[in-house]
Amino acid sequence: MQEQAAIRMRLTGIRYASPGIHLYEFQPVEDGALPAFTPGAHIDLHLGNDLVRQYSLVNAPEDRARYVVGIKRDAASRGGSAFVHEGLRVGDVIGVTGPRNNFALHEDAAHSVFIAGGIGVTPIVCMVERLRALGRSWELHYSVRRREEAAFLDTLQDERLHLHVDAEHAGAFLDVPAIVAAAPADAHLYCCGPGPMLDAFEAAAGGRPAALWHIERFTAAKPSAQGGGYTVRLAASNKSIAVEPGQTILEALRGCGVHVPASCEQGICGTCETRVLQGTPDHRDSLLSEEEKKANDVMMICCSGSLSDVLVLDL
Ligand code: FES
Repeated sequence: MQEQAAIRMRLTGIRYASPGIHLYEFQPVEDGALPAFTPGAHIDLHLGNDLVRQYSLVNAPEDRARYVVGIKRDAASRGGSAFVHEGLRVGDVIGVTGPRNNFALHEDAAHSVFIAGGIGVTPIVCMVERLRALGRSWELHYSVRRREEAAFLDTLQDERLHLHVDAEHAGAFLDVPAIVAAAPADAHLYCCGPGPMLDAFEAAAGGRPAALWHIERFTAAKPSAQGGGYTVRLAASNKSIAVEPGQTILEALRGCGVHVPASCEQGICGTCETRVLQGTPDHRDSLLSEEEKKANDVMMICCSGSLSDVLVLDL
């Protein structure tokens, strides 16, 4: 697995989007076009002291001169959004890796249904823009607790936007199962938002072919596997490493001086994806489909463990 070099980027602007959400624009320090991305992609911001966080890109993919991300100051921040909102100043230079897309748009779909909750709208902004430019059929159900929290309305404004404000429905949440049930059988469905919304979406869409529904999580759906008690054999470097109780595979490897690229460390970004040559992983990530998990040929070693005594990895 090759580690991607971080691009040095300067914070060139901060704009207000809604209470608690700011748009951060980064431009490369060195001249040249930025790596291309597709709608739904995210980048990793390297914020110092091993703090790396993923944020969805909201600018147009054709604009190769900048990356723009929308970041909400999260009250339960694990350090990322608090650092960005309070610590980053215009002119600061940070490292950026990516873009990576785990939430890709299926442009040829006969119809696309997007369901977004709060800051979960960020990856969907340029997906919708793209379908609009292509003249495709789509609808967006965007849920916020209070009307003033809705961001990107200038971009999203369209008769196909259905804004649900909880406070204007006596606190009732968006009826995700009803939206899924009403979607045409061949539509592609996308959901990004808080955990309970994603769980409701997953339950409602689960009866449809897996290729037709797509989820982007900002937090882990399952706790990481830390039971330990197995051995990881590294085929390429001919090493065997014991994973002890309380450790993830990534932590055990680090403890033995084996460096593997990682970013979110909760199974949502894909940076640590590793090929499995032998053994049965205990998959805990939010990225692989059920089919991919059953195939057992790749795993996210930041959060997934092993069901077999020995796991052989392509490292
Ligand atoms: S580091 Fe993000 S999935 Fe493992």
